[in-house]
Amino acid sequence: MQLVFATHNQHKFQEVKAMVPTNIQLLSLKDLGLLDDIPETGKTLAENAQIKADFITQKFNIDCFADDTGLVIEVLDGEPGVYSARYAGTEKDDDANMQKVLAKLKDHLNRGAHFKTVFALNLGKKKYLFEGIVHGEIITEKRGNEGFGYDPIFKPSGYEKTFAELTLETKNKISHRAKAMQQLIDFLSNMGSQR
Ligand code: IMP
Repeated sequence: MQLVFATHNQHKFQEVKAMVPTNIQLLSLKDLGLLDDIPETGKTLAENAQIKADFITQKFNIDCFADDTGLVIEVLDGEPGVYSARYAGTEKDDDANMQKVLAKLKDHLNRGAHFKTVFALNLGKKKYLFEGIVHGEIITEKRGNEGFGYDPIFKPSGYEKTFAELTLETKNKISHRAKAMQQLIDFLSNMGSQR
């Protein structure tokens, strides 16, 4: 089957592509010829994921899924949450976003946080949501060059390394996105075996 992953983020695309079984042909927005950003006007991760998936379904009439992800920090009352991409003001400035988090946590001992991903899958006329969470903590300075976004300051529970110090293979065993994606894959393969 063909399925579009509605993201312009090449890191996300590669993470997901590494998990997808060979019977699914994963298409990117570039494959559809879409270069414009899809507006994210929702108030929750689920709303934003659905908005992105619906945008593609309406425009191209094709099965697709989209994700929205947030970093949730306990002592900051869940910030940056749904506003993770534009936390420091400018859209998608990873360094500024991380600096803002580190500055806000400067005097806090509780550095607990989690990433949450919601995938919205539009299949035919039906819509499905899948969710994945990984718990961990925010360290005091950036470490590592892998991954993207907040990865250099996030250390998953049970690991000494940040997401940016782990390989894609390891991140893909434990991450929020991998957990949500595995549910989506299991759902599709169950549907396939019921046909
Ligand atoms: P969005 O899902 O693309 O809207 O991402 C929201 C924000 O979270 C952006 O700043 C991303 O860079 C960041 N983000 C999304 N997924 C990850 C991840 O797996 N690791 C680190 N940061 C991420």
